[in-house]
Amino acid sequence: MAILWNEQDKTLTLHTKHTSYQMKVDKLGILLHTYYGSSIQGDTSYAIVCQDRGFSGNPYDAENDRTYSMDVLPQEYPCHGSGDYRTTALSVTDHNNVSGCDLRYVGHTIQSGKYSLPNLPAVYAEEKNAQTLIVTLRDAWLNLQVELYYGVLEDTDTITRAAVIKNCGEQTVTLNSAYSSSVDFLNGKYDLLHFHGRHGAERTKERTHIDHGMFSIGSRRGTSSHQHNPFVILSRSETVEQFGECWGFSLLYSGSFSCVAEQDQMNQTRLLLGVQPERFNYTLCPQESFVAPEVAMIYSEQGFETLSHRYHELIRSHVCRGSYQFSRRPILINNWEATYFDFDGEKLIKIAKQASELGVEMMVLDDGWFGSRNSDNSGLGDWWVNEEKMQGSMKEVSEKINALGMKFGLWIEPEMVNEDSDLYRAHPDWAFTIPGKKPVRSRNQLVLDFSRKEVVDHILDSICKVLDNANVAYIKMDMNRSINDVCTAAQGMPSEGKILYQYVLGVYSFMERLLQRYPDLLLEGCSGGGGRFDAGMLYYCPQIWCSDNTDAIARLHIQYGTSFGYPISAVGSHVSTVPNHQTGRVVDFNTRGIVAMPGSFGYELDLNLISAEEKEQVKQQVENYKKYWHLLHNGRYYRLTDCEQDSEKAVWMFAAKDGSEALVQVVTCNTNCNSPIEYFRCRGLQPDAVYCEQESGKEYYGSTLMNVGLPVRTISGEYKAYQLHFVRK
Ligand code: DGJ
Repeated sequence: MAILWNEQDKTLTLHTKHTSYQMKVDKLGILLHTYYGSSIQGDTSYAIVCQDRGFSGNPYDAENDRTYSMDVLPQEYPCHGSGDYRTTALSVTDHNNVSGCDLRYVGHTIQSGKYSLPNLPAVYAEEKNAQTLIVTLRDAWLNLQVELYYGVLEDTDTITRAAVIKNCGEQTVTLNSAYSSSVDFLNGKYDLLHFHGRHGAERTKERTHIDHGMFSIGSRRGTSSHQHNPFVILSRSETVEQFGECWGFSLLYSGSFSCVAEQDQMNQTRLLLGVQPERFNYTLCPQESFVAPEVAMIYSEQGFETLSHRYHELIRSHVCRGSYQFSRRPILINNWEATYFDFDGEKLIKIAKQASELGVEMMVLDDGWFGSRNSDNSGLGDWWVNEEKMQGSMKEVSEKINALGMKFGLWIEPEMVNEDSDLYRAHPDWAFTIPGKKPVRSRNQLVLDFSRKEVVDHILDSICKVLDNANVAYIKMDMNRSINDVCTAAQGMPSEGKILYQYVLGVYSFMERLLQRYPDLLLEGCSGGGGRFDAGMLYYCPQIWCSDNTDAIARLHIQYGTSFGYPISAVGSHVSTVPNHQTGRVVDFNTRGIVAMPGSFGYELDLNLISAEEKEQVKQQVENYKKYWHLLHNGRYYRLTDCEQDSEKAVWMFAAKDGSEALVQVVTCNTNCNSPIEYFRCRGLQPDAVYCEQESGKEYYGSTLMNVGLPVRTISGEYKAYQLHFVRK
C-alpha cells in the first residue's frame, strides 16, 4: 500500500519505491507536514520541537500553550491569518474584505488509481499503478472547504499534489493566493536550482542559496515564460550531480506562476509553487470552486542525475500522450529560417524535394500560408489558405509533398490576432484591450481572449476547415507574445488573475479538442521557441520547440538546462544554416547535427543551398538518427559535464537501460595552444561488461570507461564534435 493512515498516531504516510512523505493531524486538527525524503517508517513528528517563540502567536484553542504556534509549525497547506507570518499557500478575503483563514482537518479518503483534474493537465497512470489521497480541510468561519489531492506513483517515485478550494458558504469569497503545493523542511541548508533566461536563451541553470527571507521566481506574462521555468529543484547545499538529496517540483500549468523559497526565523525552509498570486483575486461565488493545478514532486537521494532520470520517465510515460508518445517522430524540415515569409508553392516544393532526396521525412510549412500574412504585421486570426501565394489549395500542396514520400505539417498561432486582419475588423472585442485605452502591442499583434468559449470555438473551427481539407500529420502551435491589457468586457470584468487562469484553460481545451478530432496528429508546442516549455504543455504536445536560437553552441546551454526537468524526447531541435541567424556564429555541419540529435531532430534551412559534401552528411545524420533514436529517447541521459562551469567541452551520453549500448556525444569548445588533455567519465554502463567502440573497434570494460574515462580528442579548431557508439559484447 502506497498510502497508509495510522489511526493511533493520526499520520498519513505516502510511500514510493525510494521515498516517504508524511503528514499528521495534530491535537487541534491542524494538518502538519512532518517529512519528505528517503523512505522512513513510523511517526516522525517527534522531530518537531515546540518552544515559546516571542511574537509568534497562538491559536485560541491552544489555550495557554504558548509553545504552539502556526508561525513555526511545519504545515501541509498554511493559511494567511492563522498566525503564520511566512508566505502562505492560501490567502482568502470574505465579502466584507476581511482576510484570514483557519483550516482544520475534516477527514480523508484513499482511492486506487490516480485522480484527474477537470480541464487541466495531470499525471496519469493505470489504476493498479497509482493511489490517490484526498484530505478535506475546512474553515468553519468562512465555510470554505479545501481538498488536498495527492497522487502516488510508487514505481516512478512521484507524488503529485493539487488542491480544490470550494466556497460552501452563502457569500462570495476571494482567493488572493492559492498555491498548489507548500512543503516545509524542518532543518538544513538549501539551494534552489532554477532555470531562468530570455527569448533565445531559455532555461539557463542557476543555483541560489536560500538564506533568511524569501527568494522568488515566476511569471506575470500569462504564459510560463522564457524568463523563468515552472520547474525547480530544492537541494541540500552539498548536493551535486551524483550525490546528495534534492527535491524537484514541476508545475503542470502553462500560465503565470510563482515559486517562493523562504527560510524563516527558526532556519526552516518552505517551498511553494503554484499560480501567480499577484492580481489573482479569484472570486468564488457560493458553491464555486477553484482548482489549483498539479505539481509533480520527485525526490532523489542520489543527486540531480537520478532526479532527472525520474522526471524523464514520469513525463514520458505519465504526462505525454498520443500516438507519438513512444514512437519515433518523423525527421522534419521546416521552412522558417529558409524562407521566413518569402515563399510560394514552388519554392516550398523545391525545398521539400531536395530534403526528401536526402532522407528527410516531413515538410513543415511555417508562418505565412494564410490570410494576408506576408510579414508579421498582418493576417493572424484569418485561418484561410492564401491560395495565390501557395499556388494552389492546401490539399494540392499537401498532395505534392506526400507524392515526394513525405508527411506534411503546418504552423498555427491560434491565440493571436493582428489588427490588420478580417477577424479583428469583425470582432475587435475578442482581443484583450482595455476599452478606450491603446493596448500594448508586441510583434504588432494582440492576444485573443481564449477564456471565452466562442473565441476558442471560432478559431478551432476555422483551423479545422483547413485540416479537414488537406493531409496534415503535424501541427506546430506557436504563441508569440506576453499578455497585457487583460480585460474582457464580455465577462463583467473579473480579476486579471481569473481571466488569465481561464485563458490557460481555454488553450488547453483548444488542444484537447484538436487532438480528439485528429488523434494521430503530432502536436509540437512553441512560444517564440521555448517560452511555454512546461509539463502542462507536454500533456498535449510530446515535443516543444526548445528555442528560437538554433546556434549549436548556444543550444548546448539551453538543452543542458532543459534536461534537468524534461526528457530528451520533448526537445525540438534542428540543424540550421551558418552564419547562424541568431548569433552569426559559424559552426561546422557535423557539430550542428550532433547537437540537434538529442531531441526530435530536423532541419531548418534550404538544403538546396548546401555543398555536396554537406548533403552527404545530411544523409548520414538521418541514418544516425534512425539508428540511435531509441537510445536518445528511451535510454538514460547522463550529463557528463556542467555546461555552466566547463568552458572546454560539453559531453553527455545515453545508456540503454539494460546496459547493452551507449552513445556519447562530445563538443569541444575553447581552442588553445598546447592545452592540457581533457577527460570525461562514462555513466550507466555495466562495470564487468566489455564494450566495443564501433568506429575504432577498441574494447573497454564498463568499469574502465566509468572510472578512468576517456581523453577528449584533440581536434584543431573551435566547436568540433564527435560521437562514440559503444556496444556491449
Ligand atoms: C516563432 C517560432 O519560434 C519560430 O520557429 C517561427 O515559427 C516563428 N515564430 C514564425 O512566426
